[in-house]
Amino acid sequence: MYQTKIAGLGSYVPENVVTNDDLSKIMDTNDAWIQERTGIKERRHIKKGDGNSTAVMGVKAAKIALERAKISKDDIDLIVFATLSPDYYFPGCGVQVQEMLDIHTCPALDVRNQCSGFIYALSVADQYIKTGMYTNILVIGSENHSGGLDFTDRGRSVSVIFGDGAGAAVLTRSNHIGQGILSTHLHSEGKHAKELSLEGPSTMHWVPEIIAENPQGDNIPYYPYMNGQYVFKHAIQRFSEVIMEGLAQNGMEVKDIDMLIPHQANLRISQFIQQKLKLKDDQVYNNIQKYGNTTAASIPIALTEAWEEGKIKDGDTIVLAAFGSGFTWGSAIIEW
Ligand code: ACO
Repeated sequence: MYQTKIAGLGSYVPENVVTNDDLSKIMDTNDAWIQERTGIKERRHIKKGDGNSTAVMGVKAAKIALERAKISKDDIDLIVFATLSPDYYFPGCGVQVQEMLDIHTCPALDVRNQCSGFIYALSVADQYIKTGMYTNILVIGSENHSGGLDFTDRGRSVSVIFGDGAGAAVLTRSNHIGQGILSTHLHSEGKHAKELSLEGPSTMHWVPEIIAENPQGDNIPYYPYMNGQYVFKHAIQRFSEVIMEGLAQNGMEVKDIDMLIPHQANLRISQFIQQKLKLKDDQVYNNIQKYGNTTAASIPIALTEAWEEGKIKDGDTIVLAAFGSGFTWGSAIIEW
């Protein structure tokens, strides 16, 4: 049995900054409402023509992570790509990244677990390394939300929350027991699937039919639906549970956490978890204020920034936790 170590981290966000005031010019919203409800001040959006896409941003983050890991792209044994906003319906972004990085015939797979996508991807990669099947794995979380949101008054409660960006981690095999990814914990509960979902275009909602049935453009199911308060209620319960589950499995307590990096869903959700678990300010990392909610990309972007800012040191206990559409949720306990 081997251990999995995070050898390198990288992130990328588009240059185009969209402030709350910018959004208030195109829909009926305002800075005060957005900040009070979500903590978000601004987010990044891909600009048409800037060359970015979900896969392209993933590649940009991956190149930084590979360089920092000092691992050649030719030594990558597997690519795991987490996204809910892939460039194509099929194939997945994993194979696009493989092509863009010019890596030959290594397996590439996509994980479809929304805001929990990066934790699920990390867990998948961790199992392959721990069993000895692979040595180096590239894990990416990337999202292009701005390409699929409703920026009219109708979509305002959802579209103000999400932003674009990517983060990546290079995982490698280590022989140091007790260091690296100690454990991952995954859950899902499909009965809540509709509460945070995007129905079409899909095999259930075929675009020509949708257009024929909705000539006025009402009730179109190809914008995301979110039952905000329902999501909030479940998120704060599941986040706390899965963090405590991870700590308990490793014989740890809340005081042992050096840094909690929660999925950046909403600053109010992070603050609620912090209060519930009685964590101090310097034990929790948040950057949703700058980037909004980037779903599968939010944890690797935050982890990369925390590391770049020197907030993660060797020997620290890092806890990653996420909750999202599905509902799905999960955590990872890492000894840095
Ligand atoms: N700007 C201004 N007003 C708005 C906006 C907006 N962008 N959006 C909605 N409103 C209005 C509504 O129309 C409503 O007006 P009314 O009272 O006149 O009818 C009022 O604000 C309150 O609307 P609610 O939807 O009840 O707002 P709520 O207080 O629930 O806040 C929010 C919405 C922020 C989504 C909240 O429910 C929440 O924090 N939910 C958690 C879900 C979440 O954070 N999801 C993140 C993605 S999922 C994930 O990552 C896990």
